[in-house]
Amino acid sequence: MRLDIVTIFPEFFGVLDVSLLGRARAAGVIEVGVHDLRDHTHDRHRTVDDTPYGGGAGMVMKPEPWGEALDALLTPRSVLIVPSPAGHPFTQRQARELAVREHLVFACGRYEGIDQRVVDHYSERTEVRVLSIGDYVLNGGEVATMAMIEAIARLVPGVVGNPESLTEESHEDGLLEYPSYTKPASWRGLEVPPVLLSGNHGAVADWRREQQLARTRAIRPDLIEKP
Ligand code: ADE
Repeated sequence: MRLDIVTIFPEFFGVLDVSLLGRARAAGVIEVGVHDLRDHTHDRHRTVDDTPYGGGAGMVMKPEPWGEALDALLTPRSVLIVPSPAGHPFTQRQARELAVREHLVFACGRYEGIDQRVVDHYSERTEVRVLSIGDYVLNGGEVATMAMIEAIARLVPGVVGNPESLTEESHEDGLLEYPSYTKPASWRGLEVPPVLLSGNHGAVADWRREQQLARTRAIRPDLIEKP
């Protein structure tokens, strides 16, 4: 898989060299390119934003640098991902769909967003997904891109060492994960639930399922009561 990121803060993505993703890059499973949007400006001040038509607070990112940067990266098989608080929710399902694509391009907007014509233009020639990582507002798309890349990359075969660890976790089956315990069996007066020490695999599986349902009902009832 290849990931390209366009941003005015390329240094932000230095952390992609560490941890699981760093190893996946070193092993050649995932290739990453980070591109400075300002390299596609042609004025002395390397301007990427301007005042909004119609007035209002804040600045809007100009379409021309984006056009030049994205023309150089996108192919008909790419998916262009635009992080935005106004986007569709980014979910585990989206992560699974994107993990099997060969090329993802992330366009990190800042300020009050990117001129709408950028999304409109590229929607005509490639798959474009405008995605939000949650109902809160960040200063720009960089942190959202990092979160999405981590969620997607760990589903790419060869990135996570033990693929079984992917199947038994929150959201993979639409429910929250069951609680986990390790040794010692007793800690500060708190005991590990006895069923987990019983060696009865069927009973353990039943208990875990009940815990998943109880947790999901208590914390995220919206996941169960989907229309
Ligand atoms: N940019 C700013 N806020 C965002 C959010 N919640 N999700 C994705 N991109 C964003």
